[in-house]
Amino acid sequence: MCEPRHFDVRYAINPWMREGTQVDTTLAARQWETLAAAYRAHGHTVETVPPVPGLPDMVFAANSALVVNGRVFGSRFHAPQRRPESTEYETWFKAAGYDVYRPEALCEGEGDLVPAGRYVLAGTGFRTSRAAHDEVQEYFGVPTIGLQLVDPYFYHLDTALFVLSEDPATGDAEIAYYPGAFSSGSREVLRRLFPGALLATRDDAMAFGLNSVSDGRHVFVAPPATALIDQLAARGYVPVPVDLSEFHKAGGGIKCCTQEIRS
Ligand code: ARG
Repeated sequence: MCEPRHFDVRYAINPWMREGTQVDTTLAARQWETLAAAYRAHGHTVETVPPVPGLPDMVFAANSALVVNGRVFGSRFHAPQRRPESTEYETWFKAAGYDVYRPEALCEGEGDLVPAGRYVLAGTGFRTSRAAHDEVQEYFGVPTIGLQLVDPYFYHLDTALFVLSEDPATGDAEIAYYPGAFSSGSREVLRRLFPGALLATRDDAMAFGLNSVSDGRHVFVAPPATALIDQLAARGYVPVPVDLSEFHKAGGGIKCCTQEIRS
């Protein structure tokens, strides 16, 4: 995670961002601390990357890489304003002892790349390019399933879909998603691969409910995504509501603020 010391809305690169928006920096800091504390309280280790002045979106750690089996596939941002973040995160990973692969194609890390059991699900349409999906498949040797995003409010895959749990023995995964964020062909692919998926409403998605993090039991989830929270509980998960409303002003939520280091 990256502390939101320099977090702000200073440019608009998705429909949630409005230039001139006031961010309550004290509240943002408190919300971010609450998320970090919730992870720790549920047994997770939180490492932090130093925030850099002039990089107001650096708090969205998910976009900087995809890490699987301790191998780091780095990022190449679509927006010029965010491009320097790749190097900052790369520096952190290298200091922590990881090699970092630098993609040639545009790629925004876990924003668009979601490991789901035997597959990596890969979004495209607004940020990450199709060419990056090929690089991901080649780098990890895992079948990478391209999914076309069509609604600008859900410009990253992790705003429209998350993994609830994975079974390492079978490679099966249980996922949740908002079908309206995807092209009809991609919806059909999701239906075929994940027939038992939890289908979320547009209200849940607009509340950043699908920008959640699950450890397989606890689901760190936006409190206003009430229908989703009910469905999670009905499936036996334990919802842990954490409010990141200040970050929604920049188009980000819980998952965006979290890079998962799968070692
Ligand atoms: N303002 C950031 C952007 O538009 C938000 C990134 C959100 N991150 C995410 N993983 N969806 O790039």
